[in-house]
Amino acid sequence: MPKVYTGFQDFVGARSARQRIVDDVLEIRSGDRVLDVGCGPADILAFLPQVDYLGIDYSEDYIDAARRRFGNRGRFLAADVSSLRDQGITGFDVVIALGVLHHLDDVSAKGLMRDVRDSLKPGGRFVCVDPLIEYPQNPIARLLARLDRGQFVRTREGYSELARSVFAIISVEPRRDLLRVPYSHAITRCSL
Ligand SMILES: C[S@@+](CC[C@H](N)C(=O)[O-])C[C@H]1O[C@@H](n2cnc3c(N)ncnc32)[C@H](O)[C@@H]1O
Repeated sequence: MPKVYTGFQDFVGARSARQRIVDDVLEIRSGDRVLDVGCGPADILAFLPQVDYLGIDYSEDYIDAARRRFGNRGRFLAADVSSLRDQGITGFDVVIALGVLHHLDDVSAKGLMRDVRDSLKPGGRFVCVDPLIEYPQNPIARLLARLDRGQFVRTREGYSELARSVFAIISVEPRRDLLRVPYSHAITRCSL
C-alpha cells in the first residue's frame, strides 16, 4: 500500500530525515550512476541531485507508484537485485539500500550484499540506512526498533559482521538525530 507507507513515513519525520540523509550521509554527486536497492516508492529520488537513477524492488505496486510519480527522472525495475548482473546492468558509482537490510535474515542480507558488490564500479560505494539496537538506548527508540516490521533489526556489531563478510572497507555509524521521535539509525558504509 504505497500511499499508507508514505503517509506513515511523513508522520514520523521521514521526509526531513531523507533530506538529511541525502545532505550528510549519502554524498551523492550530480551525474552519479545510482542504484537504489529495495527502492519502495522511490521517495528518496525527490531529494537527490540530477543523477542517473535506477530503482529496483520486488514489489510491482511500489514500482508502479514510483513510475507514476517520477516518470522519466529515473528508471524503475520490478525485480530481485540478483537479476541485474544477468542483464548486464552494472557499473554504479553509489548503491543505496534504505531500510532494507533489517527485513532480511543474515543469509539473504549477505546475498544482497554480494549482488551489490558485483554491481559497483571500481571505487564505488554502498551505503545502507537501517534501525539500530543499542545498549544502552533511549526506551522509546528501543521500543520503536522492536516494533519495526523488519524482523532483523541488528546491533552495530550485527551490521558490521554482515558487511565485513563481503566488503574490504566498512564502517557502521550510529545516528540518533534523523527522525522527529527518539530513534537510532545505523549508517553502514561499504567499499571494495
Ligand atoms: C522497508 S522497504 C524500504 C523502501 C525504501 N527504500 C524506503 O526507504 O522507503 C524495503 C523494500 O526492500 C525490497 N527488497 C528487499 N530485498 C530485495 C531484493 N533482493 N531485491 C529487490 N527488492 C528487495 C522490498 O520489496 C521492500 O519494498
